[in-house]
Order: sequence, then C-alpha cells, then structure tokens
Amino acid sequence: MNARKENALSGPVPRPELAQLSPYRQGKADIEGCDRPIKLSSNESHLGPSPRALEAYRGLADRLSCYPDGSQQELREAIAGVFGLDAARIVCGNGSDELLQLLIRAYVRTGDEVVFSRYSFTMAMVHATAQGATLVFAEEPRLRPDADALLAAVTPRTRMVLLASPNNPIGQYLPAPELWRLYRGLPPQVLLVVDAAYADYVTATDFEAGSALVDAGGNAVMTRTFSKLYGLAGLRIGWAYAPAGVIDSVQRIRTPFNASADAMAAAAAAVRDTAYSAYVRDYNAREQYRIAAAVAAMPGVEILPSHANFYLLRFSNGSRAAAGAAAALEAAGIIPRPVEAGAPAQSLRITVGLVHENDAVLAVLSRYLSG
Ligand SMILES: Cc1ncc(COP(=O)(O)O)c(C=O)c1O
Repeated sequence: MNARKENALSGPVPRPELAQLSPYRQGKADIEGCDRPIKLSSNESHLGPSPRALEAYRGLADRLSCYPDGSQQELREAIAGVFGLDAARIVCGNGSDELLQLLIRAYVRTGDEVVFSRYSFTMAMVHATAQGATLVFAEEPRLRPDADALLAAVTPRTRMVLLASPNNPIGQYLPAPELWRLYRGLPPQVLLVVDAAYADYVTATDFEAGSALVDAGGNAVMTRTFSKLYGLAGLRIGWAYAPAGVIDSVQRIRTPFNASADAMAAAAAAVRDTAYSAYVRDYNAREQYRIAAAVAAMPGVEILPSHANFYLLRFSNGSRAAAGAAAALEAAGIIPRPVEAGAPAQSLRITVGLVHENDAVLAVLSRYLSG
C-alpha cells in the first residue's frame, strides 16, 4: 500500500488528550413549544449593556471593513483608568475564556500539573487537558475556594493554580486575607490565576479580585470579563491583568485581532459608564437579597449565599427533588441550569433575572415544594 492510501485509511490523528474531552455544553436555550422562554441557565445580564455601550457598538457599523486595533489601546486605557491599573499590563481577548486558554498554552507543558479549585470554570479544565496537563482538584469543603486545600495540592510538578473567585456554581469568593495567604504560600515558579469573572458583582469589603496580587509580584494573574455585569456576552470580550513577563508571553501567541473592533468599542464605553455598572451591581444585590428571603421561607430547599449574578438551590426532599424542580420550572417556560457532576448534589443553578422573571421562579418553586 502506498503512503497516500495508508493515510487515507488511518486519517489524521489528533492529540491523544482530546479523547478525554467532549464538546462544551452551553446552557440550554429552548423549551419545546415555548416561544419566549425565560433563560436563566447562562448567567447573562438580563438588564443588558449600558446604553453608551450600545451607542459605541452601533457607531462601528460603517467601519466594518477595517481591522481592529491590534494593540487594544483604547480598551486597555479605559479599563486601567476605571480600575486604577497599569494599561501596559492588560491584555484583552475573545472572552476571558480565550485568555485562560492563552495562559495555559503559554505556561503549561505536557505532564505538568494544574491545580484547580473544585468549582472553577470547566473550559479552563478543557484547555489544560488539551495541553497534556495532569489536572489536580482541590476540594472546597466550605463551598468556597480553600487556601489550605489549594496549597496542599501543590507538588514540584505544579505549574499553575487556578481558582474562580467568586466560584461557579455557588457564587462564593475567597476572602482577601486567605487569597493573600494562598499567594504567599505558592512557590515563585507556580502561576496563580484568579478567574474573577463575577468580581464586578461583589460588594463585600473583604473581597480582593486579584489585581493587588498582580501588582505585588511576578506570579499572579487576574482574568475578568465583559460577559456578566456589563451584559456583552455576545460580543466575546474579556481581559487579563498580569505581570509584564506574563503579558509578554501571552502577546507572543495571541492572534493580533483576537478582540473585534465592535467588542472593544462597546467594552470601553461600558467600563467607563460606572454609573450604569453601579446600577447593575445594586440591582443584583437587591434581587439576591429578596430571592434569598423568599426561598428561606420555603420548605425542602436551601439557597446558598451568592455574591454573583446566580444562586444555587439545594433541595432536600428526596433524590429526584432537583430534577423535579427543574421540570416544574421548564413547564412554566423557565430554563435553570442543572449542575455538573461534582457540584453539590440535588442542586440547580439559576441566574438572577428581571424582577418579574425572578418572581416567576419563586412562584413555581413555592407551588412545587408545597404540592
Ligand atoms: C467562572 C467563569 N469564568 C470564566 C467564564 C468565561 O466567561 P467569558 O469567556 O464569557 O469571558 C465564565 C462564563 O460563564 C465563568 O462562569
């Protein structure tokens, strides 16, 4: 058999690590027979983006033939101005997802260990697996990242420690003193990546999103997103704040136009509209409080305190309770997110929606639990 025929039979062979992966499953978006379901499965912002972001986005419509600014200057400077950061140490990407992937590609070699806090972003686990890393999980016994568990999981082979703070699907963060203790306890060659996708919602005073760690030294990175509080998930735009050496590494492998012109223009306007961000943050905190109070009065369910734009309900009435609640919500045109394996059992994650959407969830839950 000649080489051409042999190749045609065997076909191109992907990296062996890919056999361990299956394609990402997006939060469900449809219910059969329901025209306009209330989608509470993907932690999107139901308040939408700032009107200024929309205006900036529309303003780009007649410039679509031009490449975006590959240096991302305007957006980097807008972020730096609002958060008091160094614009030279910011890099933007196609969602924070892409930045996590770039960091993993830049720093993790086949056979390295990456320590994940249990309730971190699953796509980061996919990127690390595809890179040939060994994934090590640090449990979160108190349902928030645990500095001791993370430190105990580190070995001489660890290249990166990755945690989501606030975590997902619970919405709990690692308080600042604990985050500092984790950072200081790590060997200098281990990169600490704080995925702070939900940081913009946190109002607690003992919260540190991660930028102070970045400013302190050479081995911490913070990733952020415009997909959540800023309501720009469809545009795919996120950013990372990192030490100069890490920025340099990411810039070597980043495609020059990974962030589109419309996404960067909308994001720059969104981040500068601090009054709108404060409005969304306050709204979310108020609704979380109201929902928690209503659920607390219901039998057979517990709501876990959350600092993000979603909450986790844990059901106690029998082994099918969470599935039953999900079915009851879907029958009413509401889509929750069943949690993945490894998350607290008998639970459902639900995004904070508009007031009438949250009311609809509460009404269904109340009926389901009393019926
Ligand atoms: C914890 C966490 N990190 C990161 C992301 C990625 O967000 P994006 O890629 O939209 O910036 C998400 C998205 O849901 C998330 O839940």
